[in-house]
Formats: sequence, C-alpha cells, structure tokens
Amino acid sequence: METKQIQEMIDVAIEQLAFSYTPYSGFKVGASLLTKSNRLFTGCNIENAAYTPTNCAERTAFFKAVSEGEREFQAICIVGGQDGILKEYAAPCGVCRQVMMEFCNPHTFQIILATSREQYEIFTLEELLPKGFGPDNLAS
Ligand code: THU
Repeated sequence: METKQIQEMIDVAIEQLAFSYTPYSGFKVGASLLTKSNRLFTGCNIENAAYTPTNCAERTAFFKAVSEGEREFQAICIVGGQDGILKEYAAPCGVCRQVMMEFCNPHTFQIILATSREQYEIFTLEELLPKGFGPDNLAS
C-alpha cells in the first residue's frame, strides 16, 4: 500500500475515537476499513451496561460495510488507548480476527496498527491468526 493511503486510513481511524462509547472501560478504539472497491468504512467500540453486548471498533466497521453490500476487503487500520491516548498498538481481539477470517484472504489482508501517522506497523491476517478456521474449511 502507498504511504499516503495508509496515512489517510490512520487519520480516519483516529477521528473515530471521538465517537467511541466507553463509559465502562474508558478504552477508546477507532478503525477504518478499506474495501477492494476503495470505499472506506469506519468503526468505533460501543460498550454496554451488560458488558457482553459490547462491540469492538473493528467489528463495527466490518458489519457496517457488509450490511451495505461489501464483502471484499484490502486493509483495516486500528488505533486505540485508554482515554483515547495512543501509546501502544491496539491489536485486534480474537473475536475480531475471526470476523476478519470470514471475509478476508489471510495471506493478503493488511492490518495496520498505529499510534500516529508516522508510527505504524502492518501485519497480514495470517500473521495475527495463524492456521485460522474460515469458510474454506467448510467447503465440500
Ligand atoms: N476493543 C476493541 O474495540 N477492539 C479490540 O480488538 C479490542 C477491544 C474494545 C472493547 C472494549 O470496549 C474495550 O476495547 C476494552 O476491551
């Protein structure tokens, strides 16, 4: 990916921190999700008083995109930190990695973890979810 596009994804993910709803943990996460058709979807984490209905930023972005007809994705950028202060990379939780596995090619899908426009690292889904279980495992 080009640096300019990565930086745009980081900027957009950081903007989502303002919408993150975290009255319980205070840990704010923002995401931007790039489709193969070059649309950028956004997501933030949305917590709940019953705790388990909480939705992560990554899944918010995926579900928004899929619900609008997108099923093919290039990359996701994730940022996060306590009170929205970005000190360390916010790696996706196991459930979000599994949701990525449903729609993305683990060899090519790019996961950009960032703390600023200048500080980021890129992983493939395969690196973060080795030997993942996905739709291919159910294909007969
Ligand atoms: N969170 C995310 O949004 N994405 C992740 O992959 C890890 C965790 C959120 C869920 C919850 O609102 C807060 O971070 C603390 O777990």
